[in-house]
Order: sequence, then C-alpha cells, then structure tokens
Amino acid sequence: MARELYLVGNWKMYKTSREATDYIQTLLPLIAKSKPNVFLAVPYTSIAPASQFAKETSVVIGAQNMNDAREGAFTGEIAGLMLKEAGASFVILGHSERRQIFHETNEMIHKKFIRALQDDLQPILCVGETLEEKDSGKTEEVLLEQLRSALDRVPKEDANKMILAYEPVWAIGTGLVATPKIAQKVHAFLRTCLSELLGKRKADAISILYGGSFKPDHVFELVAEKDIDGVLVGGASLDPKTLALIAMNFSKNTQEKK
Ligand code: PGA
Repeated sequence: MARELYLVGNWKMYKTSREATDYIQTLLPLIAKSKPNVFLAVPYTSIAPASQFAKETSVVIGAQNMNDAREGAFTGEIAGLMLKEAGASFVILGHSERRQIFHETNEMIHKKFIRALQDDLQPILCVGETLEEKDSGKTEEVLLEQLRSALDRVPKEDANKMILAYEPVWAIGTGLVATPKIAQKVHAFLRTCLSELLGKRKADAISILYGGSFKPDHVFELVAEKDIDGVLVGGASLDPKTLALIAMNFSKNTQEKK
C-alpha cells in the first residue's frame, strides 16, 4: 500500500525566529520538486513566524513538545491549543531527549498523545531503545511497551492519524546509524505491533520514520527499505541545503518504491 512519505526536521533548541524565516526562504526553492512531505519541528517562538512564512507552501510547521493539560497553573509549559493557534499542525511526542533529560514517562506521553489529538495536532510519536536495552536483547519489549502505552484506549480512528518514528537512542546525535537491515527489521516489528493494536489496514497506512544521526548519504540505503517511510532528522536539518539534499536524494530513491 502506498503510504505518505515524510522528511521531518527537528531543530531542537536551535534558531531564533529571524533565523527560522531565513532558513525557510532558502529551503523553499531547493525543495520545489521534492517528493516527501517536508515538516519542520521548530522552537515555540518560531512557530507563528515560520508558519506564516510557509503558508501556501509545501512546508508544514509543528512543535517539539507540549503539555498534556488543556490549560492550567503550569509555569513555563505550553498547551496544544496555543501551538495550534500559533500555526502548528503537528507535534513530536516522546522524543528520547524528553524521555531521558526531562524524565517523561510512557504515561505522560500517553496523556500528551490524547491531548494532541483533541487539539487537532498530528502526533509524531517517537519510540526507541537505549544501547543497554539493545545489548540485553530488550529492543522489542521496550518498543512494544512504549507503543502500547501511548495508544492505550485511544480510539482506532484517531490513533490512525499519527506518524510513528523509530529513533534508537544509541543513534541520536552519536554519529551511529542503524544499518538498513536492523532498521527494516525493527520497522517491520513496529508495523506488526500496530497491526495487532489497530488492525492490519490501519497499520499498513501509518508511516514509520527512522531517526538518528541521519545524513544525506543514508537516504540511499535506508528509505529504499519496505517499511521505512521517511526520516526524522536532527543535526543535519539545521542547514537548509543539507535538508534539501536529503529531500532530493529521497525523491530519487523512492521513485519506484511508492
Ligand atoms: P540527530 O537527531 O539526527 O541529530 O541524531 C535525531 C533526532 O533527535 O530526532
């Protein structure tokens, strides 16, 4: 089945609003003919200017995190409705930096997932195992638990709106990239889990992205794999020319695939 293809740039805590709009201005002509949907997860302060700037273009702007409450006395937090009104269309949830540095649990991510859907933000749910978990053979167990708890009691028609991202923690920002064989095996496993949780038809329609030290050259090996429907790129997305190169390589390499 043909699935949507995505190239998601995750800027993390980089770029001011001015830098964000300059970036988009450089990026747009370079990706005019690219095939994947290009999403940019920008810092909160750049959502409004970036989404205004990207209006009526193919670039979609979103956030990197949100709180699970509708509103409330939570100093320093941000609500989904605020992101939506500022122009965000999607939100990354459960990124390993949120899980590890900010101690987000599966339960917290589950609540955020529900809230994002209520606020009409498309969730990009990140799952991934640590090096220790990988070395002790726990990858599948950890991923299944992360996935199952995020989707717990979420109506199937809503769960269907998500994008899933496999981001092995040992590959994020480390320069280590999962081999195509390892990544494909994990993606196929995740699709089987989705199938058990949501049914095969829905599982077949959900795009599963790979993330972790992704560079333009990796497009050739990774996105040709059957169950890899795109990439979530951190460091390499900070330069618009590098992101555009990934988009172009991606387009070439998936011509026959999807
Ligand atoms: P990286 O980050 O590409 O810099 O490894 C990926 C991510 O954190 O989403």
